[in-house]
Amino acid sequence: MLNDKDRIFTNLYGFQDWRLAGARKRGDWDGTGAILAKGRDGIINEMKASGLRGRGGAGFPTGLKWSFMPKDIGERPHYLVVNADEGEPGTCKDRDMMRFDPHKLIEGCLIAGFAMGAHVAYIYIRGEFFREAEHLEFAIAEAREAGLLGPNACGSGWDMEVYVHRGAGAYICGEETALIQSLEGKKGQPRLKPPFPAGVGLYGCPTTVNNVESIAVAPTILRRGGAWFAGLGRENNTGTKVFCISGHVNKPCNVEEEMGIPLRELIDKHAGGVRGGWDNLLGVIPGGASVPVLPRELCDDVLMDFDSLKAVKSGLGTAAVMVMDKSTDIVRAIARLSAFYTHESCGQCTPCREGTGWLSRVMTRLVNGDAAIEEIDVLEQVTRQIEGHTICALGDAAAWPIQGLIRHFRPEIERRIIEKRGGRSVAAE
Ligand SMILES: Cc1cc2nc3c(=O)[nH]c(=O)nc-3n(C[C@H](O)[C@H](O)[C@H](O)COP(=O)(O)O)c2cc1C
Ligand code: SF4
Repeated sequence: MLNDKDRIFTNLYGFQDWRLAGARKRGDWDGTGAILAKGRDGIINEMKASGLRGRGGAGFPTGLKWSFMPKDIGERPHYLVVNADEGEPGTCKDRDMMRFDPHKLIEGCLIAGFAMGAHVAYIYIRGEFFREAEHLEFAIAEAREAGLLGPNACGSGWDMEVYVHRGAGAYICGEETALIQSLEGKKGQPRLKPPFPAGVGLYGCPTTVNNVESIAVAPTILRRGGAWFAGLGRENNTGTKVFCISGHVNKPCNVEEEMGIPLRELIDKHAGGVRGGWDNLLGVIPGGASVPVLPRELCDDVLMDFDSLKAVKSGLGTAAVMVMDKSTDIVRAIARLSAFYTHESCGQCTPCREGTGWLSRVMTRLVNGDAAIEEIDVLEQVTRQIEGHTICALGDAAAWPIQGLIRHFRPEIERRIIEKRGGRSVAAE
C-alpha cells in the first residue's frame, strides 16, 4: 500500500484549503525556480528517468513525448495543451485534482511549458466542470499576482501564461486532435496523424497535449527526483496513480495508490469491498468504458498497471474501475456502452459511423436473445473490421467492450438466444 509520505495528491478529498496558501503548505510552488534552472533538457531527462507514462489512457511515456517538441523555437510559437475533458465514462479523477489541487496543475503547466519551449498553456476543460473551471481561474490569478506565473515566472526569466478554455461537452473532444480543432473554434473532429501535434498542432504550431494527471504530477517528480517516482510501482509501470472506483462496491471513491496494486486489494482496502462480498463479483471494467471487461476469475490476481492488464487482454486506460456484482445484466451493460459510442462517433470514418450503429443495434437484440447464435461470430468479426481502421481510437473503444463480452461471457449470450428460441440453438430461419 502507498505510504503517506509518497502521496502526491494530498488534498484529493478537499479537506484542506485549495487556494495558494493551502497549496504552499502542501509543498506546491516550493523551489519552482530551481527546477526551471535545470534547463529544458535537464527537466525532460528527469521526466524520462521517472518512467511516467501518460495518464490520459494510452500510457505513452511523458518525458519522451515532451522531447518530440522542436529544440529551437522558430517563427511558430510552441503550445502546451492540458486535456481536462475527462469524458471517459467512470472517470472522475482530473475533476477532483482541479477542484481541490488546482495549483499542482498550474505549477505543472509552467514547468512542462518551459521544458517544451511554450510560453502559453491552454487547459481545455469540459463545460460541465463549471466550479472546477472557476477554481482554476482563481488559482491562475493568485499565481500571477504572486509572480509565479506571467512575465518572468518564479524569477526564471521565462514568461508563461495559462488560459482556461471551456469545452461544450462532447466525448470526442477529449481525443487530442479533435480537442485542438475545438480549441481553434472548429467542429471537434479528429485529424489524421501524421502530422503529429508536436510538428503541426494548435494553429499549425508545435503542440503537446497531456492529461491533467500527467502534468499535475510533474512538479513533485522534479522536486523529489525521477528515481523516487521510478522506485514506486513496477518496471515500466512506475509511480503512483489515482484510481476511480465505482459501481457495486460499498464505498465508491477516488484513491491514489501505487501502480501495480492488485485489483482485489484496491477494491477491498479502499472501496469497502464488493457489495455482498468478493464471491458476489461478476466482473470488472478496469480502465474506463473503452477497455474490455474482466470476469471474476481474472480479477482475483490481476495487477493494476498497463502491462499486467494488457497481458489479460484488457487495459489500464484511465484507471476507472467499474465493479459489477452478480445482479448485473452484463449484456445490457455492454449494450449501453455501445449506444454511447454510437452517439459519440463524430461520423468522419465509415467503419466507425456505420459500424458503431450496427454494433449497437445487434447488442440491443442480444440483450433479449433476439438473434441467431451465428450472429455472435459476425458481431465479433465486425468489431475487427472497425478496430484499427479509423482515424481515431474511438473505433477501437467501441469494439473492445464487445470483444471482452464475447471472450468471457459468450455462454450467457448463447443462453439468452437459446431460451428465446424455445431451447433450439439453430440459426434463425
Ligand atoms: C475518443 C477519445 C477520447 C479521449 N478523451 C480523453 C480525455 O477526456 N482526457 C484525456 O486526457 N485523454 C483523452 N483521450 C486521449 C487523448 O487523445 C491523448 O492521448 C491524451 O490526452 C494524452 O495525454 P497523456 O499523454 O498525458 O496521457 C481520448 C482519446 C480518445 C480516442
Ligand atoms: S473513429 Fe469515429 S470518432 Fe474517430 S474520427 Fe473516425 S468517425 Fe470520428
